[in-house]
Amino acid sequence: MALSVHNLLKERKYPFAFAFFLLLIFVTFLLISNSQSPITNFTRPGPFSSLPKSPSPLTVISSNTSSTGIDANVDNAIDEWELCKGPGMVDYIPCLDNWKAIKALQSRRHMEHRERHCPDPSPRCLVPLPQGYKIRVPWPKSRDMIWYNNVPHPKLVEYKKDQRWVVKSGDYFIFPGGGTQFKDGVDHYIESVEKTLPVIEWGKKTRVILDVGCGVASFGGSLLDKNVITMSLAPKDEHEAQIQFALERGIPATLSVIGTQKLTFPDNSYDLIHCARCRVHWDADGGKPLMELNRILRPGGYFIWSATPVYRNDERDKNVWKSMVAITESICWKVVAKTFYESSQIGVVIYQKPVSSSCYENRKGNNPPLCDQAIRPNNSWYVSLESCIVPLPSYSDKWPSPWPERLTDKPPSLSSESDAEENFKGDTRHWSALVSEVYLEGLAINWSNVRNVMDMNAGYGGFAAAFINLPLWVMNVVPVQESDTLPVIFDRGLIGIYHDWCESFNTYPRTYDLLHCSFLFKNLTKRCDIIEVAAEIDRILRPGGYLLVQDTMEIINKLSPILKSLHWSLNVHQEQFLVGKKDFWRPDNE
Ligand SMILES: C[S@@+](CC[C@H](N)C(=O)[O-])C[C@H]1O[C@@H](n2cnc3c(N)ncnc32)[C@H](O)[C@@H]1O
Repeated sequence: MALSVHNLLKERKYPFAFAFFLLLIFVTFLLISNSQSPITNFTRPGPFSSLPKSPSPLTVISSNTSSTGIDANVDNAIDEWELCKGPGMVDYIPCLDNWKAIKALQSRRHMEHRERHCPDPSPRCLVPLPQGYKIRVPWPKSRDMIWYNNVPHPKLVEYKKDQRWVVKSGDYFIFPGGGTQFKDGVDHYIESVEKTLPVIEWGKKTRVILDVGCGVASFGGSLLDKNVITMSLAPKDEHEAQIQFALERGIPATLSVIGTQKLTFPDNSYDLIHCARCRVHWDADGGKPLMELNRILRPGGYFIWSATPVYRNDERDKNVWKSMVAITESICWKVVAKTFYESSQIGVVIYQKPVSSSCYENRKGNNPPLCDQAIRPNNSWYVSLESCIVPLPSYSDKWPSPWPERLTDKPPSLSSESDAEENFKGDTRHWSALVSEVYLEGLAINWSNVRNVMDMNAGYGGFAAAFINLPLWVMNVVPVQESDTLPVIFDRGLIGIYHDWCESFNTYPRTYDLLHCSFLFKNLTKRCDIIEVAAEIDRILRPGGYLLVQDTMEIINKLSPILKSLHWSLNVHQEQFLVGKKDFWRPDNE
């Protein structure tokens, strides 16, 4: 060392020696304070104890990144993004629009063409913007009106004119609350159902609903006023862009179909399932579709079926009703109400799933049999429908606490291990503190513009629970490779779905305002290409939307150059939070 302390002292350069000494103390102090970042070794799910001490100023990442610790030379940064080419790419959903795979299908009888067929490799292109696309109408106005140019698909206006699903008015689509079965409006329908069966108690006992064949999701949209959260579900079919309308309105929704495969939800999860003329042949294939509903329905949960076989007497309807009676009896569902609403001229039947196995055991013959739990896959990702009854869980007589206590009370499906409850409560405390002290205070996010949120690695749903008082909703995604915490999420009164992030998600482009991603990438990047994941994130996110990542600096360093190449603005906070903001840039804009 040319300039050693010894030499300085020997040459009597005391001011230099003193300055050198001070510098040494300062550097040591910096090193120590950085190594004390309290959120380290974070594994999920589990109890989370500490938080960053105080929000520190954000680091804005520029192209010269040396001062931020971002490695600008990460070799997977790409500069030459291309737009996806071909007709309809504005609305491209890679796993549902794989026409090559769809054309090669042997059968479409069971809606195979509406199921997932993911391209391999996953696309790396960017979806174009529709002409005249604007920042969406803010919530809650968006529930009733959206920009026409954002989802320029007028087919349903004509196709469902008499039913008033959606109306065009100037630059807007308006949603007057009509539907095939909502002749007096959806609000009236919902009131009538509760009068028919008061124990339903919307928003207290009944909190989490699945609406199969949801149309434009007016049923779920209206129930939000009653503190009910509905997963509105429908395929991408001739009801053009129905799920895109739902999400543009700010109503929770997902693309899926009752076809040959299980729905990607856990067993015993929904409090209530609703089907209003949803066109599913529940009695087909020996009742396999109905057995799928039975699987995902909570013990003691209800199925509301509002369809012509319930209240019309023509031959076809009578036959369907007869076979529904046989199948529902064979799976021990009880009819708890059946009624006809004079004013709207429609009828509903309400079934209830049992809470005890005694009926299963007392059936003459064992048909359908109980599913063999030893050979059942432990989730429903790409699994065929079964012809069996899922045995009731040990907690089948316990309904979750009434909403909102259910959000924080011990979930019935929580593991019975001794530390499980403390871990769960610790997780809730952790997310509550992190959200209030860091996410809402310290980051460059304008939460008042955020409505549709996805937690890409949701654990116990603590992130979603911490936002419960804000006017936003969260799709809690549990990756199929992580521990299966989705039953707990449903027990808490939240919604979620399984997914593998090496594939594209079943949603339209530009449907989420914020994607949250806590410690997902390390495992993910062992299996798939981070650039493909980034292209998918870009597809799902709206212009003006945010990606909020909590991860190690190694991952942040990998991700940042890719997001920068997409022309996003980026901030890093406390060396573990990355906030990326997408704008309107597309490759051909330049
Ligand atoms: C006549 S509309 C009823 C819409 C809404 N429930 C209402 O009452 O206004 C039929 C709905 O069922 C959906 N659908 C058709 N086949 C389906 C299937 N196999 N699985 C899930 N949804 C289906 C359609 O996409 C559409 O949303």
